[in-house]
Amino acid sequence: PIGLLNGRLIDLNDNIVPMEDRGHQFGDGVYEVTRVYNGRCFALKMHVDRLYRSLRELTIPAVYTYEELAEFHELLIKESGIMEGAIYLQITRGVSPRAHGFPENVVPCLTMSIRPAAAAPDKNKLEGAKGLLIPDERWLRCDIKSLNLLGNVMGKQKANEAGCFEAIQVRDGFVTEGTSSNFFVIKDGVAWTYPRCNLILTGVTRTLIMEKIAPELGVLVVEKKFDEAFLKTAEEAFVSGTNSEITPIITINGKPVGNGSVGPITRKIQEAYWGMID
Ligand code: PDD
Repeated sequence: PIGLLNGRLIDLNDNIVPMEDRGHQFGDGVYEVTRVYNGRCFALKMHVDRLYRSLRELTIPAVYTYEELAEFHELLIKESGIMEGAIYLQITRGVSPRAHGFPENVVPCLTMSIRPAAAAPDKNKLEGAKGLLIPDERWLRCDIKSLNLLGNVMGKQKANEAGCFEAIQVRDGFVTEGTSSNFFVIKDGVAWTYPRCNLILTGVTRTLIMEKIAPELGVLVVEKKFDEAFLKTAEEAFVSGTNSEITPIITINGKPVGNGSVGPITRKIQEAYWGMID
């Protein structure tokens, strides 16, 4: 398997992480995951814009231009021959003797890898998936796509152990997002999702739904908090994300959402999303 270290091709089996890389020791870095469909990156510009925002919030210097990063993505696709896949990119603050404060004059470290992903939609996407409500135990800067994912990892594990596809997190009584996806419900034909703020990641898929798909379908989206009681009255629910795309959630904690099958508005949004992939 191949990868890139600061833009140079490497073998992923090589030992490339220095002991004192701050990503390794502190989770001091950021990442992006971008899907490759038919040999091309999907919504790369939006991912790179979010990457730059995450870097700015952590005052890690952005030392690669959009053009360079786009070139690296293309290089990985070309060298691997993977036409349907996902590219992982991470940038850490760099290597420095371990001390909590930011070191000065350190060069950030960029690593990237590519792996195949199924081209055809799986059962969860087609028939709907199970969700599990869990307390949101993450930190207060979930808007930064940082390498610190322990809260997310622990949440997903709870979902896995309960035989569910995704854990849907609840903070202060309100439903925030999945562990690697955003969450929407449909109520009276209107789509609801948690407002953009420090407590959720502004998903690229979420933005595409809000700014392009829903307006074109004539579906109203409101960024409003809702609680568990509201969720119980919802007609439909789904998660959105680079890997999940649009995955209908048809049961939560074992109870059906609406009539327990994939809802019509969810299906329309899902099909419109797939329609954007050329
Ligand atoms: N996760 N919320 C969280 C907490 C996420 O980690 C993700 C993405 C999303 C959806 O964002 P987007 O639509 O830009 O993929 C929402 C990625 C895929 C991951 O961690 O693998």
